[in-house]
Amino acid sequence: MKVLGIMGSPRVGGNSDVLLDDALAGGKEAGAQLEKIILDRLKISGCKDCKKCNDTGLCVLKDDMPEIHNKILEADAIIHSVPVYFWSMTAQMKAYLDRWCALFDAEWKWHKAYYPKMKGKRIGLITVCGDPDVHTADPIVHSFKSTVDMTKMKWIGAVMASASEKGDIVRDAKVREQAFELGSKAAMP
Ligand SMILES: Cc1cc2nc3c(=O)[nH]c(=O)nc-3n(C[C@H](O)[C@H](O)[C@H](O)COP(=O)(O)O)c2cc1C
Repeated sequence: MKVLGIMGSPRVGGNSDVLLDDALAGGKEAGAQLEKIILDRLKISGCKDCKKCNDTGLCVLKDDMPEIHNKILEADAIIHSVPVYFWSMTAQMKAYLDRWCALFDAEWKWHKAYYPKMKGKRIGLITVCGDPDVHTADPIVHSFKSTVDMTKMKWIGAVMASASEKGDIVRDAKVREQAFELGSKAAMP
């Protein structure tokens, strides 16, 4: 059982990072093998819509994303963690998500070779916003959940948190427990 954590904030040790680590701890306790990717440390360009991947399933851009594609394919579950930037997700997470494009054909169906690996893959999300109203992050949840629903993956839920300064979330025991539980759920078929 492999759980992949995708960290979409540039603030390593910040709120999204703390909650992702909590989720991965939940996955570890449930016996999963873990890997965490900090998107900000990698080079991930925006999708060019060149459509070359429609036939091949392979992205022609020479950066770090093709390697992440392989990790996505091999993972049983993926937990994304990202803060709200201007009522949306960070540029790092958006560039990553747009590059999922390579996994689909021209009709937005999984490439045949990928379908068995992607169908039923468990996807979870953690959001953090500075606004006390966690629903400020609803557009991010909508983006991930719609992707999951359209493509027959399995939505395991969103943990939505509010915090401003780096690491403030450490004191929010309730949301940290929710993140831990999300990780446990990710590790259970
Ligand atoms: C460029 C930028 C834009 C932001 N935009 C919003 C926003 O639209 N709404 C909001 O509630 N918080 C916003 N925030 C606050 C962050 O979401 C908040 O500080 C969060 O805790 C950061 O999480 P992190 O520690 O994981 O990076 C913004 C922060 C930055 C740096």
